Amino acid sequence: VPAPLVDPFGRTINYVRISVTDRCDLRCLYCMAENPVFLPKADLLSLEELERMCGAFIDLGCRRIRLTGGEPLVRKGMMDLVAALSRRLRAGDLEEITLTTNGTQLARHAETLAGHGVRRINVSLDTLDPDKFRRITRGGDLAAVMAGLEAARAAGLRLKINTVALKGDNADELPDLIRWAHGLDMDITLIETMPLGEIGADRTDQYLSLAMVREQLSRIWTLTPSTRRTSGPARYMKVEETGGTLGFITPLSHVFCEACNRVRVTCTGQLFLCLGQDDQADLRQVLRDSPGEDAPLREAIRRAIAFKPKGHDFRIDRPGAAPAVMRTMSTTGG
Ligand code: GTP
Ligand code: 5AD
Ligand code: SF4
Repeated sequence: VPAPLVDPFGRTINYVRISVTDRCDLRCLYCMAENPVFLPKADLLSLEELERMCGAFIDLGCRRIRLTGGEPLVRKGMMDLVAALSRRLRAGDLEEITLTTNGTQLARHAETLAGHGVRRINVSLDTLDPDKFRRITRGGDLAAVMAGLEAARAAGLRLKINTVALKGDNADELPDLIRWAHGLDMDITLIETMPLGEIGADRTDQYLSLAMVREQLSRIWTLTPSTRRTSGPARYMKVEETGGTLGFITPLSHVFCEACNRVRVTCTGQLFLCLGQDDQADLRQVLRDSPGEDAPLREAIRRAIAFKPKGHDFRIDRPGAAPAVMRTMSTTGG
């Protein structure tokens, strides 16, 4: 059994987020430019490479894998990757396979995912109004997401809704979203926009402080700190009146960094040690230099963990300032 991955700050890395594609069938205003330039296919990791990558992390003690994008369900052959991971799950090498998805393709895949041992899924959804949805996602069809959620519920998957709080777009709708999610027994987490990538819009115009939102919500409901602790960025509250769980992700506060348990791999095989820093290692090169041999890959991952920074440098306090990091969320995988 190899030694666990421990970084210089004593944090054990047992969770990896893998972006399987930079492509998405939506173009959310805070995420992508209107006409994003997608990477050439040859730059992306192949399915086989993705499988080797995941395998190396599992061999190094990673127990949770989250597949993200872009939109993971638009990647061809995604279910083959999930099937491969599912074998490691059944063998007891892995505790959890999850997905962060926009839900548009979920209706087709929910059964299969559940069959492969996926138990919960995070679905990004910022509004319940079809017209607003079309505007925020630049053309998306809310009905497809709703059908996806329904199929996921029918397949027995636990659901968490991720909502990016946007000043001009959904600020007034947040209580409705929370009521709706909790009514269907789904958790919901609100997220502040993070300054990732040039998207042709100034995020200071979109940024809505969750400290303010929480204050407003606490006038409607009784919010009590939840006992739920994860090593993720969310801080959870219980809404007494609905009985549901409400998370807050405020990336600009550093509270979660000191317990950070995760790293992420982009769709081109770059290992990023923090969402908000540029420290990285090129794992694709290692994969391609040593086909059929995974020891060098494991070595490269272990070496990189030694450079995991203490925390991110996000800030959105200077209007017009360049984003903290130039990668977009869709390449990096949230
Ligand atoms: P679980 O805790 O596993 O349910 O998931 P999660 O909330 O970490 O994952 P999800 O993919 O639903 O992401 C929700 C939001 O958290 C996204 O906006 C992510 O970008 C953000 N997030 C996830 N990991 C990190 C991180 O390491 N740092 C920061 N600042 N944000 C993160
Ligand atoms: N800031 C915060 N959250 C973002 N997401 C995408 N771009 C950003 C951003 N700039 C969210 C998506 C999804 C999750 C993976 O990240 O809405 O819920
Ligand atoms: Fe697609 Fe998610 Fe980005 Fe929206 S936030 S454009 S759904 S990757």
